[in-house]
Amino acid sequence: MKILVTGGLGFIGSNFILHALRNPKLRITNIDAGLPGSNVQNLKQVKNNARYRYIKGNITNKKLVDKLASDIDAIVNFAAESHVDRSISDPQPFIDSNIYGTYTLLEAVRRHRKKLIQISTDEVFGSLKSANATERYPYNPSSPYAASKAAAENLVNSYFITYDSDVITTRCTNNYGPRQSPEKLIPKTILLAEQNKKIPIYGTGKNIRDWIFVQDHCDAIFRVLFEGKRGESYNISANNEADNLKIVKKILKIMEKSENLIEFTSDRPGHDFRYSLNSNKIRRKLSWRPIHKFEDGLEQTIEWYQQNKEWRRHIKNEAFTIPWKTR
Ligand SMILES: NC(=O)c1ccc[n+]([C@@H]2O[C@H](COP(=O)([O-])OP(=O)(O)OC[C@H]3O[C@@H](n4cnc5c(N)ncnc54)[C@H](O)[C@@H]3O)[C@@H](O)[C@H]2O)c1
Repeated sequence: MKILVTGGLGFIGSNFILHALRNPKLRITNIDAGLPGSNVQNLKQVKNNARYRYIKGNITNKKLVDKLASDIDAIVNFAAESHVDRSISDPQPFIDSNIYGTYTLLEAVRRHRKKLIQISTDEVFGSLKSANATERYPYNPSSPYAASKAAAENLVNSYFITYDSDVITTRCTNNYGPRQSPEKLIPKTILLAEQNKKIPIYGTGKNIRDWIFVQDHCDAIFRVLFEGKRGESYNISANNEADNLKIVKKILKIMEKSENLIEFTSDRPGHDFRYSLNSNKIRRKLSWRPIHKFEDGLEQTIEWYQQNKEWRRHIKNEAFTIPWKTR
């Protein structure tokens, strides 16, 4: 099977490709534009693998996407502008990559009759006070990032209804693990703590996210790719809710660092209080379940960032700033 992975130099896409290449029946083409979130080191180890090919390119390039789609069986679309803070300071790239980019892929799968797995997020449902969102929960995105992902989901759904395209959407909660840019909470905390630098936490740190180890997410995507039902969507979660302060304190404890490093900062505008997904459907219909315990996954993650010094040299500098201050 030939798979076109988009955004494969980023966090989840690179973990997915490394996982995929363990299966000798899979060939991977990775199209990535090298935008924020990407790191060339993420896939250095498979650079010379005969079943892997990297194309530096943008998914908004219709001609290129059309050409690539003609020679594959399925597309898994990870490519996206992914950081809420950056979407607050400048929404434009989020509209381009997340909405127009998805449209370009949809046109290619429509023309060539290929399969598309659209990777989406729990953020499309907005902030939940209690309970959790099933696949039928109404969209209520708060940030330009979440709104762009909800728009993309709607487009994907429309191609199923209108053109009977072979499309499926997956929605996942917050991922953690190796190869994530330190613009995000967990790697940022690890790398700042290691240098005994202050760790910024928004507001009171009480905002809740549901955390899943990236490999469990990738396993779920494979299940959906091979066994998922056309036109459907699947929520993916590990039922592991924790507030940001608790996460940072856990990391500091494992790293034997002082909690005095924590520094509360002014809150992100429109900061959602809590996301939570109900993943009963994928567990019941596709027999998927997460296998990593949070404590084990977190220790493994910390160790990975501590050991991969060469990867760290390729981090983009702006990853450590708090960029939502509007222009
Ligand atoms: N990280 C999470 O916790 C999480 C949770 C749920 C869903 N998601 C979704 O999973 C996907 C991957 O997230 P991630 O955390 O790996 O993001 P990331 O920022 O680490 O990686 C995104 C990758 O996409 C590439 N990219 C962006 N726009 C592109 C374009 N127009 N053309 C080609 N390449 C482009 C970037 O260069 C980067 O390598 C995203 O769609 C995101 O919305 C992420």
